[in-house]
Amino acid sequence: MINDVNLLPSISVSSTINSTRLLQKAELLAAKLDTHFAPKINQCETDVILCYTEHGLQLHQRRDNKERMTLLLFVDFVNGKNGFRLAKNCTTKQPLARAVGIKPGFRPAVFDGTAGLGGDSFVLASLGCKVTLCERSSVIGALLEDGLERALADSRTRTIVSENMHFISHDTISFLQRKTKQFDTVYLDPMYPHRDSSALGKKTMRTIRAIVGDDLDSEQLIQAAQSCATSRIVVKRPAKAPLLSARTPDHVIKMKSSRYDVYFERK
Ligand SMILES: C[S@@+](CC[C@H](N)C(=O)[O-])C[C@H]1O[C@@H](n2cnc3c(N)ncnc32)[C@H](O)[C@@H]1O
Repeated sequence: MINDVNLLPSISVSSTINSTRLLQKAELLAAKLDTHFAPKINQCETDVILCYTEHGLQLHQRRDNKERMTLLLFVDFVNGKNGFRLAKNCTTKQPLARAVGIKPGFRPAVFDGTAGLGGDSFVLASLGCKVTLCERSSVIGALLEDGLERALADSRTRTIVSENMHFISHDTISFLQRKTKQFDTVYLDPMYPHRDSSALGKKTMRTIRAIVGDDLDSEQLIQAAQSCATSRIVVKRPAKAPLLSARTPDHVIKMKSSRYDVYFERK
């Protein structure tokens, strides 16, 4: 299930706050990831640290002098650009909404098979879709789960998360092959080897790539999705990237630096 290719052996888990509850959480997470736990940041054996902070779980990198840290990844659905303000501004006319098949009076049930930091899922959930988020990286999954937990605790995002977002820590290919459930739309946004511009930003994307690699098995995602999508499969690709499947998309929505390839499923 785990696909943390490069960085995981060099990640420690710790807490910037000396709280018994957070230290316990950090210790549990380290055991789950099978990586080092350090009760204090300065006791970490590595420079990349997953740490519980006053804001939530964050991935940090220590700078040369070991005192200062750079924030690498953090999931925040409540504040920031992926947060509540975005949710308020998202519309059913935006490309992602049209791609997954949102129509007046209809909100598809979406399986997001490459959940990542959950930004796309959050937009869809904010628009009223029931979204199942599946992520196989244990590090990315831990950050995402923590973001969802905090969003559940905030009155502005509670309903969106509790009613419309359901997280699964699993490999999508093997999960969908079990065909336990059907979804109107399966949405896929795998890493692309030379993706150099993205809504997530270059630094964020570089860090995710360092953790999960290039998703070289992403062609299999479409095959697995075919058994579970009753209406459509949507694949997000960089604008000039080749198709993920030999099949020609039935519809393409083009944006400046990326596109959505839409495959209709007739079941
Ligand atoms: C480009 S990121 C997705 C970004 C996401 N759309 C967002 O809005 O944050 C790709 C993610 O898909 C995940 N992924 C790729 N293949 C997967 C698979 N077979 N099963 C589960 N997750 C997968 C990777 O681990 C990575 O976190």
